[in-house]
Amino acid sequence: MKAHPLEQPTLLRFGRLMADGNRGQAEAVLRQALVLEPNLPLVHVALTRLRWPGPGYRDWLAWLHQQLHPALYVEIGVEKGESLALAQAPTQAIGIDPAPMGDPLSRCTAPTRLYRQSSADFFRAPPVGCLLHRQGFNLAFVDGDHRFESVLDDFIRLEPWAAPGALIVLHDTLPLTELTASPTRQSGFYTGDGWKIVPCLRGLRPELRMVTLPVAPTGLTLVTGLDPTSTWLRDRRDDILATYAALAADKVIERPEFAARPLGANDYDWVRRWLTGSGEDAGAQSRS
Ligand SMILES: C[S@@+](CC[C@H](N)C(=O)[O-])C[C@H]1O[C@@H](n2cnc3c(N)ncnc32)[C@H](O)[C@@H]1O
Repeated sequence: MKAHPLEQPTLLRFGRLMADGNRGQAEAVLRQALVLEPNLPLVHVALTRLRWPGPGYRDWLAWLHQQLHPALYVEIGVEKGESLALAQAPTQAIGIDPAPMGDPLSRCTAPTRLYRQSSADFFRAPPVGCLLHRQGFNLAFVDGDHRFESVLDDFIRLEPWAAPGALIVLHDTLPLTELTASPTRQSGFYTGDGWKIVPCLRGLRPELRMVTLPVAPTGLTLVTGLDPTSTWLRDRRDDILATYAALAADKVIERPEFAARPLGANDYDWVRRWLTGSGEDAGAQSRS
């Protein structure tokens, strides 16, 4: 698709202002352009880097692999395989995507199986011989269909297969703008309304231990304390979807520190402490 004529001049002005150390004006230039034309994908990307500086989501996934050495990694939503390839042997990896791009496996160095099907089809009957049956997963990344309905379903489908101590990582949980965080895609840069999974899990599954990391492009949420026997979400799925359908992104965009509570830090030491249960939120598990 051809870039909008406003995009390049905006990015050039933005780059010059940033080089001069004028961050406030640089942000204003991006936001003004989005008022004139709401669909400028590269302007959205620049805004995400400005909003959440520091390591981005793939840096974090690589770090989590290094720290946790998961025996089995499951990824929903593979695309080109850039995040799937972050798994390192002896980790074994499973990727699930109905329409991956190119040859994702050519990037992977860990033993990896790619299942070219939707997560719904995969989890309806995980293939015989797929490692999930033997050991459950230790680390999972949810980055497939970004609608809340699908993210909720992916969480519900994954949890029964969690090995003890497993961690689920949810992508795009800090919305950038209302347009890009809506249930239906209306823009080139799009993260969907999957962010609603955070208030949903926090409200309905207070026993889960979770934290949202403010990382580019639009946040990562870590969830542990999984219970493979829980049917709480599954039993209430329709009510949950009805309840969260109307939830607007504006408050989360304005005050992520309240709305996506608890908000962690984009800092490896902070997350290392959180993972070992010695972080600042270690006691913050009560029903809200
Ligand atoms: C944002 S891309 C994934 C990017 C990748 N995780 C990375 O970081 O490099 C989203 C992918 O999800 C896939 N997808 C869409 N619906 C899906 C579903 N129901 N189950 C699994 N994957 C799905 C799309 O085909 C697309 O390749």
